[in-house]
Amino acid sequence: MDDVIDTQVLRINPADPDPQLIRIAAEHVVRGRLVAFPTETVYGLGANAFDADAIRLIFSTKNRPASDPIIVHIAALAQLAEVARAIPDTARLLAQRFWPGPLTLVLQRHHQVPAIVSAGLATIAVRMPSHPVALALLREVGVPIAAPSANTFARPSPTTARHVLEDLQGRIDIVLDAGPTTIGLESTVIDLTQEVPTVLRPGGIALEAVREIIPAVRYKPSHTPLEPTSPASVSPGMLAKHYAPRAELLLFTGSLEPVLVRMRETAERLVTEHKKVGILAPEEECAYFAGIPALVVSLGSRTDLGQIGRHLFAGMRELDQSGMDTILVRGFDQQGLGLAIWDRLFRATEGRVIEVDQHSAD
Ligand code: TXA
Ligand code: MG
Repeated sequence: MDDVIDTQVLRINPADPDPQLIRIAAEHVVRGRLVAFPTETVYGLGANAFDADAIRLIFSTKNRPASDPIIVHIAALAQLAEVARAIPDTARLLAQRFWPGPLTLVLQRHHQVPAIVSAGLATIAVRMPSHPVALALLREVGVPIAAPSANTFARPSPTTARHVLEDLQGRIDIVLDAGPTTIGLESTVIDLTQEVPTVLRPGGIALEAVREIIPAVRYKPSHTPLEPTSPASVSPGMLAKHYAPRAELLLFTGSLEPVLVRMRETAERLVTEHKKVGILAPEEECAYFAGIPALVVSLGSRTDLGQIGRHLFAGMRELDQSGMDTILVRGFDQQGLGLAIWDRLFRATEGRVIEVDQHSAD
């Protein structure tokens, strides 16, 4: 298990994948090996969903707790019945509208899918990705592919092949490198086995879009800021750290102007404490931090949450690579993709949310 594997990076055209390269990757999956491949959301770490040994290898390779279930990917609706049973009409409606795409449905698991895929649960999470490389690989192997994000557990999900290598080089056989992913945040996960369909993880499909198909869909964030207005409500152990950079992440929320003032003050103070400070900011706000010896990484235009989402994990990793101690970032509007962006930022902070009120900026 600890043997170092010579990880092959196969560069592949994202729009028109070379069948020869797909065949090489598919042969590895069929032989029970692990292949990292691009999806439209993030890179996945794939194995044959029917091969329990290969699934065990996913868990050990990622250092993933055995209690965390994995999503199974399919290339055609006909495959849904191979992995799930008692499929409700809502599943068909959602699939019709959003597949292929960044939506994952939790359904009753078919007995032929090994329980380990779902961490022993009676359910199974399924999605049909839209990335041509993912679809080509799925079609070539002919079986569903179980694939979590191709990062080490709790690290930001990989949106490029380089990110995959940062975490998993020497531990997996192949990375299909098709360049950066287009969404950059993981899929929306909806549980259809509960009485009321429930969003378990906001993601690439907006909650508002799901509501158009299932008006009753429920979303209960499992995390809300603990102590509004407290400077930094840290509660170690209360929140599972996830999607997190190695650096400490401070998340500021509130009205834009006071938030920017507080971020600048905080950055200046941390610098005097000899901390290496990184800032993730929309393009329009980068200049605001000029003159502070901090590393500012642009997330793209604040008028386009698609850009912010696409660059979020990459930005965290870039600042980690540069050895930052602390990363400052502000929250965005929680509409549309903004909800997934907020969720990822919140989980990465372990509760270090700093609510800035109007008065504190006076
Ligand atoms: O966009 C994505 O979903 C990416 C790409 C590779 O498809 N995959 C991904 O997988 O993000 P992962 O393992 O990093 O996240 C899977 C999420 C976890 O939050 C897990 O708890 C949830 O889906 N999940 C998986 N199976 C489940 C099940 N049977 N019941 C409830 N939640 C489940
Ligand atoms: Mg993940």
